[in-house]
Amino acid sequence: METVMPITLGQTPDAGFDEPLQLLSDCHRRIEKFLGILARIAEERRGGALGAEHREALEAALRYFKNAAPWHTRDEEDSLFPRMRQLNDRRVDGALTTLESLEADHDRVEAGHAEVDQLGRLWIERGTLQAAEIERLGQLLEQLCQVYQRHIAEEDDVIFPLAAHVLNDSQLAEVGLEMAQRRGIDPDRPAPRCRHARAKPSQQPDTEAEP
Ligand SMILES: [Fe+2]
Ligand SMILES: [Fe+2]
Repeated sequence: METVMPITLGQTPDAGFDEPLQLLSDCHRRIEKFLGILARIAEERRGGALGAEHREALEAALRYFKNAAPWHTRDEEDSLFPRMRQLNDRRVDGALTTLESLEADHDRVEAGHAEVDQLGRLWIERGTLQAAEIERLGQLLEQLCQVYQRHIAEEDDVIFPLAAHVLNDSQLAEVGLEMAQRRGIDPDRPAPRCRHARAKPSQQPDTEAEP
């Protein structure tokens, strides 16, 4: 029987909320991982019947992108980028266009994930996908991979290092605090780790897929 890579967190522990920029990068590794799982299942099964392992992996990846990944977008759009823009710093001014294009990417991938989610759930419910549906799923996943590859490189290599230069410790601490609060985590808990985080029941995502 074919198998897919096990659904586990990365080998290295995530940063804590006291290192928000590192934690945001850690989240990129998780996005890449779950996107890779989706692409691999689509390629291996081609819309055919899913065994238990493929189905569980598909469910976990869909759950991650539906429930947990949106927090990452909010971390950037509501906590990090606004603090950078407010600085009126010449170095940030030079990156304003990049910030705008990153936000446009967020809208684009959100639409792509909504369609992937629909097709993935159909696959789970019905057991198989028709030829046109699996072709569309493959197309969407390829587009998402392309967007994320550039997007994540721009954030990891340009925007986060810039943020580390221009934001002071207290501004970065505010970003980390908001990230914790967004996930319903008590910010006073000592150095919470992403992988051990507990969300409020109403916000409960796939706990192995945070943030
Ligand atoms: Fe982003
Ligand atoms: Fe990001």
